[in-house]
Amino acid sequence: MPHGSNTLTSQAHTSQDDPARGTETSIRIGARVIPTRYFLAPLAGYTHLAFRRALRELGGLGLATTDLVHALALISENRKSLDLITTHTVDRPLSIQIFGSQPDVLAQAAVWLEDRGYEGIDINMGCPMAKVNGQGGGARIACQFDAASELVESVVEAVQVPVTVKMRLGWDSNSLTAPELAAQFERLGVAAITIHGRTRAQGFHGRVDLDGIRAVVKSVKSIPIIGNGDVKTVDDALWMRSVTGCAAIAIGRGAMLDPWLFRRLELCESGGPEPFEPTPDEQVDFLRRHFSLMTEQHGEYSCVLFRKFAAWYGAKLGIPEELEVRLRQFSSLSEFDQITDEIRRRHGERESDLATALIKVPNGPVERW
Ligand SMILES: Cc1cc2nc3c(=O)[nH]c(=O)nc-3n(C[C@H](O)[C@H](O)[C@H](O)COP(=O)(O)O)c2cc1C
Repeated sequence: MPHGSNTLTSQAHTSQDDPARGTETSIRIGARVIPTRYFLAPLAGYTHLAFRRALRELGGLGLATTDLVHALALISENRKSLDLITTHTVDRPLSIQIFGSQPDVLAQAAVWLEDRGYEGIDINMGCPMAKVNGQGGGARIACQFDAASELVESVVEAVQVPVTVKMRLGWDSNSLTAPELAAQFERLGVAAITIHGRTRAQGFHGRVDLDGIRAVVKSVKSIPIIGNGDVKTVDDALWMRSVTGCAAIAIGRGAMLDPWLFRRLELCESGGPEPFEPTPDEQVDFLRRHFSLMTEQHGEYSCVLFRKFAAWYGAKLGIPEELEVRLRQFSSLSEFDQITDEIRRRHGERESDLATALIKVPNGPVERW
């Protein structure tokens, strides 16, 4: 996060830290009161129930959102979609993120979720018209505006629970449509908007554009704007809030790098004790807890599902290569216990390397996230 490229001018009129929206630490999203202003951004394939529960146990996490779920697959009760929306009483507050291009299907999915007790719907705005309109200029943007409005309106009208939207700044630097869309979504009754401060064309390249997020904050009258992108430390989060005036922050990859980040932010806001570093033992406990919660949902198959986390934990904990390989290949619960016992003895043998612990991102433009 660049510190210094933005000034802190005129925050007074744009900051969303207004007590009417909640207390200083809590925040209102529609009728929901979210206990902290630091949210988990969805990372498909990573931020599943087990990870969310493990994170929540560390403290400080406000709202979490599931991976994006295809609306039609959900109402068809497709097994994978049902898996993605699986939750638990301790997994609150939670929103379910849905996507699709047909307003009636999206609305049906929202009703399906509301009927089953889910308390918040997040629409992944992605770039709904990208494929239909190819590279067309202004027409594409207008069309996107109308189509996006129709999608959002159909969901807002179908359910009572708060509906939120997550989107990027726009198609590319020549069409920064987010402020205009945000204002329209607010008029349509959306309760909050998460804005990733990059364009679709940027993919994950370049820096997050704080001025772009700030423009979205300024474009709405009263709904909270949740800033998102590249927040990996307490300073990054505070900087994004102060420069953009956004009401809350959604953290994705930073939560993987440092699951204690939400707790750190909570302590910082309450003027709590000095920053802390989790001990290696606490980090191994987190790894074990993450896996054990996964087994509650997936049983022995967790041995396969956990493999994608091996490189991340391996790099973070600085475990020798051969132990990391075993963490990627184990096939039974007892083997997992043996490996983690060994990790407890041998962490730090290799220097931990957060750069390789970063999760992979697509290398070009992204349609959905
Ligand atoms: C592997 C991966 C999966 C993602 N999955 C989703 C998703 O399901 N829904 C969504 O809205 N955004 C998704 N995103 C985007 C993130 O929510 C977030 O907007 C982006 O990573 C920037 O925030 P960060 O720097 O805090 O990670 C994904 C990003 C990554 C890297």
